This record gives sequence, structure tokens and C-alpha cells, in this order.
Amino acid sequence: MQEIVTIENLEFKYLGAGDKALRGIDLSLERGRRYLLVGASGSGKTTLARCITGLIPHFYQGEYSGEVVVDGMKVSETPIQRLAEAVGYLRQNPEEQVLMTKVEREIAFSLEFRGLTTEEMERITRRVMENLGISHLWGRTTDTLSGGELQKVVIASMLVLEPKILILDEPSAYLSPMAVKNLQGLLDTYIPSQSTLLVIDHRLDYWIGFVDTVIYIDRGVVRYMGSPGRLLNLLGSEEHRLNIPLHIRLSHDLKQVVNTRGVNS
Ligand SMILES: Nc1ncnc2c1ncn2[C@@H]1O[C@H](COP(=O)(O)OP(=O)(O)OP(=O)(O)O)[C@@H](O)[C@H]1O
Ligand SMILES: [Mg+2]
Repeated sequence: MQEIVTIENLEFKYLGAGDKALRGIDLSLERGRRYLLVGASGSGKTTLARCITGLIPHFYQGEYSGEVVVDGMKVSETPIQRLAEAVGYLRQNPEEQVLMTKVEREIAFSLEFRGLTTEEMERITRRVMENLGISHLWGRTTDTLSGGELQKVVIASMLVLEPKILILDEPSAYLSPMAVKNLQGLLDTYIPSQSTLLVIDHRLDYWIGFVDTVIYIDRGVVRYMGSPGRLLNLLGSEEHRLNIPLHIRLSHDLKQVVNTRGVNS
């Protein structure tokens, strides 16, 4: 089967919240593809990521119904540690997920349950740090890192596990446009081609050329899933909520004019 994540009729309401954060979500993600999840603030992007990683329903309490299956495992019935072997998750606030004081210990930590020798763990950690261009952070304490450095350390700690799915929640928040390009280059090079990538970002313009499929979520409902270009037809007046690049907007407007007025040839 090509699908790595299947979600059926998923609904979730946080404990004490008035409205459901997710409503009737049906979605599947395929192996080896790149997805961008966009939507306004509060639309449910992070909540959906939590449902794939298992933080919902194992950590966050609330009303949960429907089914999420990740790499053949039913999320609601699988321990979160087991799910973490398949899903790497860079949280929206990466400082919340760092556990160790030293950078190299943080990266090697995820390997500790794999029964490797200390030498093997060190070798893998050094290789991944070198690949991500952060070898100079060896020996640093994690609380002295900048947001961008911390993000790379967390990405390194995910890459050592070679996860089947990688979820990056708002990775551009700490980065300049140049640094986003740099991150995309690293993802291109070091994420295995059979891994699935789900990027969550407000910045459609940063990722539009990088992903295969865009998923648009609006107030807990998936309103669109398909090619980045066709999303514009649907958005209409809502497009100001996403940062759609000018050249794409112009080509869309031009097509609208041609469609409504026709062309003389
Ligand atoms: N821990 C929580 N407890 C209660 N409600 C929550 C919690 N986390 C999120 N929510 C609510 O669930 C809804 C969806 O929030 P979520 O964080 O998933 O949105 P988002 O699309 O990731 O937004 P942003 O772009 O601001 O990160 C919002 O109404 C939010 O207030
Ligand atoms: Mg969020």
C-alpha cells in the first residue's frame, strides 16, 4: 500500500473548548510525497499534526472520534513511543521538546532505545550533525542556541531515526527567507525519497515550489487537497489570509479574465 497515513472521519474537541478543533477530516498521505498544510491561525493545523503523532489522544484530553492509522498502526491504540519511531515531529515551539542539556546528547537520545553501542550512536550523531552543517554545536548547551539552531538540532534528532513521516510545524517562524531556502536544500538532500514530508506553514509562497500537494484547512474542515496552483481558484476572497506570491496570483487572475471573456484567436 502506498498510503502511510489514513484519517477517517476524525473529529476532536479539546477538553473544555466550546467548538470542535477538527471536524469530519478524511485524508490520506502517500509514501514519498511532500505536503503543505495551510490555513489561517486557529484553523486546526497543529491539532491535525498532534493527531498524527499521537499527542492526541494520548497527551491532550478531549472528545475524539474517527480513526487515524499511521504506518499500519491505529494511533489511538498505539503507545506514543512506538509512533515516534515512525513519525518525526518538529513542534511549533521547538524549545518545548528539547529534553537534554547538551546538543549531542539531545540528538543521540532518540537512538538510546535501539540497542546501539556508544560508538555507533556517536558515529551516527556526528554524521547527521555534519550533514546539517551544525558540527560546531557539539558540546554546546541547548539553552544557549538561537531559534534556528535549535530547530536544526531537533531536525537532526529526528533524522537519526530515519522516520517514515516528518512533520515540520511552522519551520519558517524562526528563519529568514534565505534560511528557509537553506533548510529546503537540506531536506532535499537528507530526507530519504521514500519518506513523507508534511510542512505546516502560513507561508504558501515559501513552499509552493517545494511540495507536491497542498492541503487547505479552514475552521477544522479540510476544504482543499490538490496541486498548489488549483488552490487559488477555490480561495477567492480568502487568499489574503495566505501569502500567495504575486506572479502566481497574476497568472491566476489572467486565466480568470480569459475564461470569462474568451480569447480571440
Ligand atoms: N491545548 C489546547 N487546549 C484547548 N484548545 C486548544 C489547544 N490547542 C489549540 N486549541 C484550539 O484549537 C483550535 C485549533 O488550534 P491549532 O493550534 O490547531 O490551530 P493552528 O492552525 O495550528 O493555528 P496557528 O497557525 O496559530 O498555529 C483553536 O481554536 C485553538 O484555540
Ligand atoms: Mg499551529
